[in-house]
Amino acid sequence: MIPENTGPAAVIVLAAGAGTRMKSRTPKILHEIGGRSMVGHALLAARSINPRQLAIVVRHERDLVARHLSGLDPAAVIVDQDAVPGTGRAVEVALETLDADQHLTGTVVVTYGDVPLLSGDLLAELVATHERESNAVTVLTAVLDDATGYGRILRGDDGTVTGIVEDKDASDAERLIREVNSGIYAFDAAALRDALSHVTSDNSQGEKYLTDVLGLARQAGGRVAAVVTADRWQVEGANDRVQLAALGAELNRRVVEAWMRAGVTVVDPATTWIDSSVTLDEDVRILPNTQLHGATTVARDAVIGPDTTLTDVTIGEGAKVVRTHGSGAVIGRHAAVGPFTYLRPGTVLGESGKIGAFYETKNVTIGRGSKLSHLGYAGDAEIGEDTNIGCGNITANYDGEKKHRTVIGSGVRTGSNTVFVAPVTVGDGAYSGAGAVIRKDVPAGALVLTVAAQRNTEGWVAANRPGTRSAELAQAATPDTSSTPASTEEGKQ
Ligand code: UD1
Ligand code: CA
Repeated sequence: MIPENTGPAAVIVLAAGAGTRMKSRTPKILHEIGGRSMVGHALLAARSINPRQLAIVVRHERDLVARHLSGLDPAAVIVDQDAVPGTGRAVEVALETLDADQHLTGTVVVTYGDVPLLSGDLLAELVATHERESNAVTVLTAVLDDATGYGRILRGDDGTVTGIVEDKDASDAERLIREVNSGIYAFDAAALRDALSHVTSDNSQGEKYLTDVLGLARQAGGRVAAVVTADRWQVEGANDRVQLAALGAELNRRVVEAWMRAGVTVVDPATTWIDSSVTLDEDVRILPNTQLHGATTVARDAVIGPDTTLTDVTIGEGAKVVRTHGSGAVIGRHAAVGPFTYLRPGTVLGESGKIGAFYETKNVTIGRGSKLSHLGYAGDAEIGEDTNIGCGNITANYDGEKKHRTVIGSGVRTGSNTVFVAPVTVGDGAYSGAGAVIRKDVPAGALVLTVAAQRNTEGWVAANRPGTRSAELAQAATPDTSSTPASTEEGKQ
């Protein structure tokens, strides 16, 4: 095992920018792809290389961002950038803050909060090259077809990196360079500190450019080099919602592909969306139009979809979940859910249980082998094992002010349209007749009927709907219908 402090001295994540092109009240770096904020992805990559310190520079929407960050990574040091603009200034204030704690020596990595596909592996490769070559600065670069907007990498005749020129400050000849600065670097702390003290705002944007450090470090006698990545997605930032969607789709493509390589069948990768935080076992099958979010986990041989969205749902081995919308639920081994089922938080379905078509469930524990097959609502309830809940049953759990519990035992059989008026308890092995409205506890093994007498008023249609098709058909079916309505009551006991 690698001890924790073998990573770089620090990673500094830059996140002070306004992100105006998002046109959003939500700060740019809080926008999500793959179920995680962009800055959340950036922090995970930064953490994965085990830095001794992790700092993140904020300014725009400072409080909102800081609250989000302390939830994600409480150990990260939040650094406030002052009114001096520029990436160079951002790194300078971070360095001052970290130095105040303990003077940094060794490698300092700089990344951005809005580059969500950067992997820990690529960062580790950057650091390894930087340290192996004893560089003052190692910059991560990519060669793009369209380099517009990016800082361009300047190289000498021998190919060594001599500096970076910003798009807005570049000459026409320099603008033809297609190798771009990703904005991700490894620095030697001392060389960085020294160079930053010489950076000015003497450029077209009036900002302290971090990019000036490369030329300054070289002038001071340091080695400056580049790691060129062929994977442009890893260095791409999201400046607007078009780029956000493109990055989100690419992230998803990578996540889905990784699961397929790990033994998951994905019938239609293009319509399958899986958050980075989801875990799947081998031989899970995912059918088209399925979205798996949050802390969802799916065990071996389970089949999910089509047309299913699950958030924070745990699916047991061999379970089948068809056309279902669910969150915060636990589905047991070999259980079946759907189609057209709404699982709300607190739903726990036991092994081989079933929640069938057009059912809504919430806060309900359903024992092994119990079935709620069609059309109903089960909430704030506990149902034992091997119970069969008939069609159209509901737990009436809400009296307009409070929620009450329904407890239904094991081996119970309920008739269609049974209503459980909570709080109420039904004992093991009890039966209910169709339409029962259960207001009082039912002892084990009892049959509960709530019978209202049925009354047939004969001839009612002929008398009250004369001339209709119904009347005509009724007449044909009962040729000797008397013209006076007569009532009979049945079911009286
Ligand atoms: C920067 C680089 C450019 C590179 C590009 C890659 C500089 C001068 N230029 O340009 O060479 O090709 O990134 O995307 O560094 N930030 C702060 N404080 C600031 C300014 C920016 O924290 O005062 C943060 C932003 O939040 C963002 C990152 O730094 O995450 C980059 O800032 P941005 O304004 O997007 O830089 P670019 O002009 O794109
Ligand atoms: Ca940018």
